[in-house]
Amino acid sequence: MRDVIFLLGPNLDQLGRREPEIYGTLTLEDLSRYCESVAAEFALSAAVFQTNSEAKFIEAIHEAIGSFKAIVVNPGAFTHYSYAIADALAMFPGPKLEVHLSNVYGREPWRHRSVVSPVANGAIVGLGILGFKVAAMAVSGLLADIDAGAK
Ligand code: DQA
Repeated sequence: MRDVIFLLGPNLDQLGRREPEIYGTLTLEDLSRYCESVAAEFALSAAVFQTNSEAKFIEAIHEAIGSFKAIVVNPGAFTHYSYAIADALAMFPGPKLEVHLSNVYGREPWRHRSVVSPVANGAIVGLGILGFKVAAMAVSGLLADIDAGAK
């Protein structure tokens, strides 16, 4: 089993040219490399997957069961309405961290609700890509707690 998969949702493939005043100028490629490098900093084996498709996102969560110990998820706009993604995440037995690049609570009211947060261990919003580093740190700590409990 690998340690963590970073699952990135719709429109995050457009990073770099998508509303740079909100999301910054780094591309998906840059974000993917960043996730791999912060995972390595915490000695976590990692994979990164992005899709614009809700079905593929759900299937990636299903496939993560038994293949990864933890999930870091940025479901993009699915965050705000996809009960199907919330249900899939609820099935995943390991730590789940939700990350949003922007501060969703300072934006439009429809972004203030996450249907994913209730099934996540925690959520990090508004820190840009640094949020993924905080999430990797949280995954490392939560997996260590699980290992300690198992001993
Ligand atoms: C986002 C916030 C969502 O509201 C938005 O739909 C996104 C990106 C973020 O990372 O800030 O696609 O998840």
